[in-house]
Amino acid sequence: MKLIVEKDYDGISKKAAGIVKQQIESNKSTILGLATGSTPVGMYKELIRMHKEEGLDFSNVISFNLDEYIGIDYEHPNSYHYFMKDNLFNHINIDMNNTFVPDGKAKDLDNYCKQYDKLIEKKGGIDLQILGIGENGHIAFNEPDEELNTGTSIINLTESTIKANSRFFDSPGEVPKKAITMGIGSIMKAKKIILMASGKKKAKVIKKLLEGKKITTQLPASMLLLHPDVTVIVDEEAYKG
Ligand code: F6R
Repeated sequence: MKLIVEKDYDGISKKAAGIVKQQIESNKSTILGLATGSTPVGMYKELIRMHKEEGLDFSNVISFNLDEYIGIDYEHPNSYHYFMKDNLFNHINIDMNNTFVPDGKAKDLDNYCKQYDKLIEKKGGIDLQILGIGENGHIAFNEPDEELNTGTSIINLTESTIKANSRFFDSPGEVPKKAITMGIGSIMKAKKIILMASGKKKAKVIKKLLEGKKITTQLPASMLLLHPDVTVIVDEEAYKG
């Protein structure tokens, strides 16, 4: 696991965007794995700037998102479909037919999950996966538990995640209780992974992860210790607390 410590949020955003840019420039048909949440917003802003000012070309890029709430409309401002359009897709030249965000409204969700993993494989697999991390150590919505799912699955969000995500909703009661998420196995198949974290709130979990001593399903991010190409990009607050 490679560690990069930047001064602040702006620093990690630019660092991560630089790696994405390099990736796209080395392969125009790159397959990106994308995350939502607060952490990657600055990186997306920087990628938009690179597109507008430096001509970074997304026309052949394919993207797969990690997760989506179940039972939420695409047009709902808190859906991850909406988030991705608002924070990235609407501002770059990506072909919307090449963007995939799990469908939390699919009729047969179990079958849909299997198809999502198959589609990633069919397209050639994720070249570069962007991850945030939950305060409880979740990656995507793989929450700490006795077991973790290998493939894309339906999961129950934990109380702590519902509470953390309620900041985007009018009240905690409005936060969906279930989500569809890529599994740990789906994530581990990515050729290269960047995990980003910012702010004091993440310091405890980042410290645990970087200790790197043990793999446990109670810290889903610890599974990344088994991956050959992970770069952890944190700001000083997430590093030192
Ligand atoms: C989002 C996702 C989540 C977030 C995590 C951190 O697609 O998969 O695992 O990365 O909850 O969220 P923020 O960045 O809001 O702290």
